[in-house]
Amino acid sequence: MKSKILIVGGAGYIGSHMVLRLAQAGYDVVVFDNLSHGHRDAVLAGELVVGDLADRAMLARLFAAHRFGAVMHFASSIQVGESVQQPARYYANNVGNTIHLVEAMIEHGVQRLIFSSTAAIFGDPIRIPIDEAHPRQPVNPYGWSKSMVEQILADCDCAHGLRSVALRYFNAAGAHPDGLLGERHDPETHLIPLVLQAASGRRTHIGVFGTDYDTPDGTCIRDYIHVQDLVEAHLLALDWLLQGKASTAFNLGNGHGFSIREVIHAVETVTGQRVAVQDLPRRAGDPAILVADSTRARAALGWQPQYTDLHDIVRHAWMWESQRLSPTLQPLDGAKTQN
Ligand SMILES: NC(=O)c1ccc[n+]([C@@H]2O[C@H](COP(=O)([O-])OP(=O)(O)OC[C@H]3O[C@@H](n4cnc5c(N)ncnc54)[C@H](O)[C@@H]3O)[C@@H](O)[C@H]2O)c1
Repeated sequence: MKSKILIVGGAGYIGSHMVLRLAQAGYDVVVFDNLSHGHRDAVLAGELVVGDLADRAMLARLFAAHRFGAVMHFASSIQVGESVQQPARYYANNVGNTIHLVEAMIEHGVQRLIFSSTAAIFGDPIRIPIDEAHPRQPVNPYGWSKSMVEQILADCDCAHGLRSVALRYFNAAGAHPDGLLGERHDPETHLIPLVLQAASGRRTHIGVFGTDYDTPDGTCIRDYIHVQDLVEAHLLALDWLLQGKASTAFNLGNGHGFSIREVIHAVETVTGQRVAVQDLPRRAGDPAILVADSTRARAALGWQPQYTDLHDIVRHAWMWESQRLSPTLQPLDGAKTQN
């Protein structure tokens, strides 16, 4: 009998792919999500408990009602720009509410946690590609909030034996290869869905911030990692913890950087549509290049990303985007489910 896994934030983009994959792998899954940014109909397996991490009494009831073998924690506020404008709200949700979760775990003897961290903990990189030894020097409250949680988890390991794996994703992208799930952020701030919206006519154009970076075509280079490959890394990290291995962190990326213009061209190739582009000045705080060194995850976990071709990533995202455009399926604006 496989463990029962709690997926916090399992109604969101990455969490919902995880829920389906864990269920397919034979795990019993419980999702805890406040549906602030998640979608009830994205939870395709397991039990959905609608609740907020701020509600400690509810968390206590949840942990009393189930015997979890591990927790995967995807829930957080995720917009860098918003975190700069509303830092206290970001720290309250991403740090304060994570402390509630960790305390409930410790109280109920649940000793394994996989945490969704981010490349934003590294700030403006001093070397590329970025490995785990790169200094953590965030440049915004979102990045700081994730870095703080990593520190809290390290301290809770020393004090309470809570074992954790922090997975630092670079740019999560793509959608379920069978079109079952995809990205539904509102507002959408991620490049690939935005360019797809420009291709489908739901957006007039795409703005490119900065065309004079020291890169081959002058636009920023980012590392896009397919959501399904991220999910596989979580399964391997779960095995790592279930085997009793030590707390650690892994950087998860494709290993190949793609420029903004390359993404736009890939979208034009996949969709057959021309994308109108507006070149704009640089945005403050955007490094020229962010690419992960995932050697450690490959060596230690045996992780092998399957969808490293940008066209596959875009094709899966387009499959999802075009389904949502169909009049018989959910329109974008009505997509969010409220409790
Ligand atoms: N998407 C990316 O490119 C990316 C990159 C790096 C790291 N991450 C991290 O991965 C995780 C998942 O990202 P995503 O893109 O799936 O985001 P998402 O917004 O789609 O999912 C987050 C989910 O958490 C839920 N949630 C938020 N606060 C909650 C609370 N207080 N109580 C209960 N539920 C709550 C939301 O309703 C949502 O369903 C986040 O922690 C994010 O910081 C994402």
